[in-house]
Amino acid sequence: MKSIKIHPIGIIHSPFTIPEGTPIQPGGSTAAGEIEIFDEYLEGLTDLEGFSHIIVLFHFHKIEQEKLIVKPYMDSVFHGIFSTRSPARPNRIGFSIVRLDKITGNKLFVRNLDMLDETPVIDIKPFVPSMDFFEVEKTGWLEDKVHRHKTTKDDGRFI
Ligand SMILES: C[S@@+](CC[C@H](N)C(=O)[O-])C[C@H]1O[C@@H](n2cnc3c(N)ncnc32)[C@H](O)[C@@H]1O
Repeated sequence: MKSIKIHPIGIIHSPFTIPEGTPIQPGGSTAAGEIEIFDEYLEGLTDLEGFSHIIVLFHFHKIEQEKLIVKPYMDSVFHGIFSTRSPARPNRIGFSIVRLDKITGNKLFVRNLDMLDETPVIDIKPFVPSMDFFEVEKTGWLEDKVHRHKTTKDDGRFI
């Protein structure tokens, strides 16, 4: 299989400079910041301001070790990486839905950040509930633990 080249389209300016203390999901974060989009991608922002929430795909650039089995923040036992949102994953791709307050020039003013400062952004998409939301029957090992995402913070275990 050929390798895939991905180029950052921008960078996140976040109040979180270290993993310790950073919220582990947007649902547990009110933190505001900016996404700076690089000049060559600016035209792609056309019409994005009509959306109140956006999906941000990003690179966990501070992760050095990728793992297949991890003890995630919300549990005390190990799970396969693909059943978790842990950052130490193959390809290190993160996915967060955040509130978009406004766009000024090349800056997207956003809230609900769970990303570190200077995180490279690899894509942005509009979040549309009727396309992206499902009533689900199963939420696996998170079933009785998911409430923890609101208060749990990163403790630096993956750096
Ligand atoms: C559990 S991950 C979840 C991220 C995203 N919401 C997801 O589900 O893919 C969030 C944690 O990753 C860590 N993190 C965020 N940005 C990072 C980066 N650029 N490099 C390494 N770790 C990062 C933060 O400390 C944060 O608490």
